[in-house]
Amino acid sequence: MEPGRLEELYEWLRIPSISTGGGEAKDLLRAAEFAAGIIRRAGGEAELVTVDAGNPLVIGELRAGSEGAPTVIIYGHYDVQDPGPLDAWQSPPFEPTLRDGRIYARGAADDKGNFYPLLLAACELFASGELAVNVRIVIEGEEEAGGESVAAWVKADERGADCAIVFDSAMEDAQTPAITIGLRGCVSTSIIVTAQPRDLHSGLYGGSVQNALHVLQQILTPLLPGADGNLRDELRAGAEPPSAAELESWQRLRPGQALLDEVAAIPLTPDCGEDFRRRNGAEPSFEVNWIEGGAARTVVPAQARAFVTLRLAPGQDAQAMAETLGQLLSSEVPAGVEVEIDSHAAPPSLFAPELPAIQIARAAITRASGMETALIRSGGSIPVVADFAAAGIPVVVTGFGLAADEIHAPNESFALDHLDLGERCARELLTALAALGRG
Ligand code: BES
Ligand code: MN
Ligand code: MN
Repeated sequence: MEPGRLEELYEWLRIPSISTGGGEAKDLLRAAEFAAGIIRRAGGEAELVTVDAGNPLVIGELRAGSEGAPTVIIYGHYDVQDPGPLDAWQSPPFEPTLRDGRIYARGAADDKGNFYPLLLAACELFASGELAVNVRIVIEGEEEAGGESVAAWVKADERGADCAIVFDSAMEDAQTPAITIGLRGCVSTSIIVTAQPRDLHSGLYGGSVQNALHVLQQILTPLLPGADGNLRDELRAGAEPPSAAELESWQRLRPGQALLDEVAAIPLTPDCGEDFRRRNGAEPSFEVNWIEGGAARTVVPAQARAFVTLRLAPGQDAQAMAETLGQLLSSEVPAGVEVEIDSHAAPPSLFAPELPAIQIARAAITRASGMETALIRSGGSIPVVADFAAAGIPVVVTGFGLAADEIHAPNESFALDHLDLGERCARELLTALAALGRG
C-alpha cells in the first residue's frame, strides 16, 4: 500500500473511537468525519446520519459511469472495543506501530484496517472512472455495542440494493481466503439482582437472609451447558442442523481441534474439538461474560450484577430467544428479591452457497488472491448482516483477518500484506459484481 494511504489508515487508527463504554462522543464523531472525508476527497458524496442520538453513521455514494449498473453496499464499522488494561499493550493502542510486518493498534483488524482496503478500492475505481457498480457506503459506529442505528437506517432505506459486501471477518487460514456464509446471532443481557437495601454484617444476619450473589448463581446455573456440553432444549429452539453437503465441506478445512489448540483452550467435553465447526457455527452457546458484587470481607452482598450472552444459531428467532432467556432467568428468583433484566437481541444469518452474489464473489476472491476461497461459518456476530438479509439484500461477508490478529484483546494487529490482499480482492469483487445486473 502506498505510504500516503498507509498514513491515512494510521490517522484513522489514532482516533480512540470506543463504543463499548468509556469512549468519548467527540472521538466517535471524529472517526466518522474522517471516513466521510476519504469519500469526499475521491469525489463522492458522504453525509453523517444520526438516529435517536446514537453514534453517527457514515452514508456515502459513488455512482458508476454506466446507466443500469447494480447497486452494491459496502459496509464496515469505525467503532472499536475498549483496549482493556494499557500495560498489557506492547505499544499504546491508539499509536499504530509496525512490528514484524504487522500493524499494532486497537481497530487494526476489527475493523478499520480490515475495511479500509474495501473503501479505498471503491474510491480509487470511482476516481479513475472504472467503477462498474453503484457503491453505497455504510459505515457504522455501534457495531461493538449492539447499537440500533444502522438497523433502523437499513429498514428505512427503501432503495434497497442488489448486494452488500462486508469486510469484517477473517480468512480460514493464511493460505485460504473465506466468505463467511453463516454468523451467529447474539442476545446480550445485563442482570442486576437486589436482595436488600444495603450490605449486611454476615455474622449478624448471614444464614437468615437472601444473599444477592447466591441468588445470581442460582438463576445462572440452569443456563449452563449440561454434561454433554449442550444447552437445554428451550435454548436450542429453531437451530437448524447443517446440510450433509455443508458438513462434508468442513472436512476439507482444518480440523476443529487444531483451532482450539491454536489458542491453548481446554475443550468443554472430549468431543468438542472434533465437533467444533458444527458447535460453533450451528449451535447456540451461553457465556457468563462478567460478574460483580460483594467484597472480600464479611458482608452479605445486597446487590450483584452480571453480563451474559446467548449466541444464536442460524434458524433461531432472536426476539423469541430473548424472551425465553428472560423467562428462565426469572423463574428461579426467590420471593421478594428483585431481578432486573435488560436484553438486546441481534439475529443470526445464513446465506445459500448457490446465491449468485456468493458464487460471483467466491470466484472473484479466488482470482484476485490466487488462492482457493472457502465458504465457512463464524461463531461471531455482525448484527447488520441480518438486517440486510431481511431487506432482501444478499450479503458477501469476508475480510482478511487471521486468528493471529487477536481482535478484542490487547496487542490487536493486522498483517500489512493483507491491506494489499484486501484491496486486490475488493477491486475484483466490485468489478465482478456488475454481472449481478440491476434487480
Ligand atoms: N468483526 C466481529 C465479528 C467477527 C469476527 C465475525 C471474526 C467473523 C469473524 C465483530 O466486530 C464483533 O466482534 N461483533 C460482536 C457483536 C456483538 C456485540 C453483538 C461479537 O460477535 O461479539
Ligand atoms: Mn468487527
Ligand atoms: Mn468486534
